[in-house]
Amino acid sequence: MDAAARKRIPQPQASDFAADIIEGLSATPKRVPAKYFYDGAGSQLFERITELPEYYPTRCELRILRDHARDIAKLIPAGAALVEFGSGSSKKARIMLRAAPKLAAYVPVDICGEMIEQEAADLRPDFPGLKVLPVTADICFPFELPVEAKAAPARVGFFPGSTIGNFEPHEAAAFLRNAALILGPGAKLIIGADLIKPIEVLNAAYNDDAGVTAKFNLNLLVRINRELGGTFKLDTFEHHAFYNRERHRIEMHLASLQRQKVKVAGGTFEFRAGETIHTENSYKYSVESLSALARGVGWVPVGVWTDPRDYFSIQAFRLMGE
Ligand code: AVI
Repeated sequence: MDAAARKRIPQPQASDFAADIIEGLSATPKRVPAKYFYDGAGSQLFERITELPEYYPTRCELRILRDHARDIAKLIPAGAALVEFGSGSSKKARIMLRAAPKLAAYVPVDICGEMIEQEAADLRPDFPGLKVLPVTADICFPFELPVEAKAAPARVGFFPGSTIGNFEPHEAAAFLRNAALILGPGAKLIIGADLIKPIEVLNAAYNDDAGVTAKFNLNLLVRINRELGGTFKLDTFEHHAFYNRERHRIEMHLASLQRQKVKVAGGTFEFRAGETIHTENSYKYSVESLSALARGVGWVPVGVWTDPRDYFSIQAFRLMGE
């Protein structure tokens, strides 16, 4: 594994992959879960996306963190443990760790154990007073925190990257409920969420001129061909990404340019000309809509920071009743 995105998204077993692809291609409309983007090539392509001039989220989030780290860190009590859900590149965590020198522990959580152990080893020399306690777990399900983190006077969750936007709203609510259970009484949660904004900016971010997002999307078919014996002809599918105003989300699809049959994992799937495979939703929130979602599952908003254009937000919450 080599790139940040892959660190964030749980990588499933091969058998899940085959079953999910067959199920998704058998459905109407056809779909494939977005988590399958992140094989080695997909992770590298995502890294390139984060550097594209049109793809503002990563730059905006880093700017907010850099500009407001001290303020955000005021929410973190002395002796607390910072728990990063789906810890990506430690670039964002490092900003928080530097701004909160009284943190006792940093707990990066990811399904890829090997990778977070490496991440932890890289961090330790730079933060000698901090306990770095990696946990290998799927962030969407309950997991145990290390004893030292449980014993800390408070736990603060950190979920940057607008990964919450790749969850369906009911999944986002389930994630927030699970985070409350894991972090426990007195918890706070700091989330990076992409904001609703002019449609041209959103559409451009997912339709870059260099065609990197198209490659990222089409790489899914490359992966299916390689790992599941698929017969997708890449030049007969096209990247489609557009903002769905009613549902406040970017939708990514792969559209078949012709009527055709494709074989995958022993099954045959028919496509009409123009028929699409829905590959990703990237929900955009307003500060209010994320607050409402969080409140509904017991998190009270306690802080919001945005970039000067209000493109992206860092939003902080505390557990209700604390
Ligand atoms: C990882 N995630 C927050 C990205 C997003 O913007 O939804 C994935 C992505 N898809 C296309 N471009 C970037």
